[in-house]
Amino acid sequence: TKKVTTSTLLKMKQDKQKITALTAYDASFAKLFDEQGVDVMLIGDSLGMVLQGCEDTLSVSIDDIAYHTKSVRRGTERAFVIADMPFMTFATPEQTYQNAAQLMAAGASMVKVEGGDWLVETIKGLNLRGVPVCGHLGLTPQSVHVFGGFKVQGRDDLQAEKLFEQAQALAQAGIQMLVLECVPSSLAEKISKAINIPVIGIGAGPHTDGQILVMHDMFGVSANYMPKFSKNYLDITGDMRTAVKMYIEEVRSGTFPSAEHSFN
Ligand code: KIV
Ligand code: NA
Repeated sequence: TKKVTTSTLLKMKQDKQKITALTAYDASFAKLFDEQGVDVMLIGDSLGMVLQGCEDTLSVSIDDIAYHTKSVRRGTERAFVIADMPFMTFATPEQTYQNAAQLMAAGASMVKVEGGDWLVETIKGLNLRGVPVCGHLGLTPQSVHVFGGFKVQGRDDLQAEKLFEQAQALAQAGIQMLVLECVPSSLAEKISKAINIPVIGIGAGPHTDGQILVMHDMFGVSANYMPKFSKNYLDITGDMRTAVKMYIEEVRSGTFPSAEHSFN
């Protein structure tokens, strides 16, 4: 099987083929997702919540992400593997390079950082050193205490305009992918059309270039909480492989996310 690369993903956007992504944290699920044809596997710092049972992602360490990245890498043949840089692990250039190096050595092919245009130099520095970067805007969970809770972002015109500008600044700086989390569908559509890199949505409506879900939400087994934008595919199908297959089909056909899983 041919490996998915940044070129593959860019071409999928250009060809208007939806990109499918899931979080993964271990080799067995990574293999299951890979075999069903999931394009992108993210070792998300959501693992703090769904694996460790924490209330937010802030306590996740670079060692936690590296450990799970190694496991996912071993289970993955085809999919593109992205690893999250946890809270405060990319606050200074020295930290950023050392921590990104650890994740790349663990088997990631790209690192993801949450935040806006304060990351421009970080992104350029990583790119120059051979590390592809994925941006993450909207409801960036590492900033939950700044937002005052897990809330949809970009709802009023001023906020939306600001998010649009941030997306353009990150694209200009050199990110090769962007995750948009919990923003109105119309804003996600506008951003996806304006920048020429793949935009992957979660709670961002059907018009992005692809979709991502936290695997535990997709299976409906998350401890505590099921977000509005997620869909329990295991409940519908009764089988994990079929659930993943159905998720992929619904993303590709544009059936998921529907209005009930989106924000306006
Ligand atoms: O940590 C995570 O799982 C994520 C996705 C929800 C995009 O960042
Ligand atoms: Na994350």
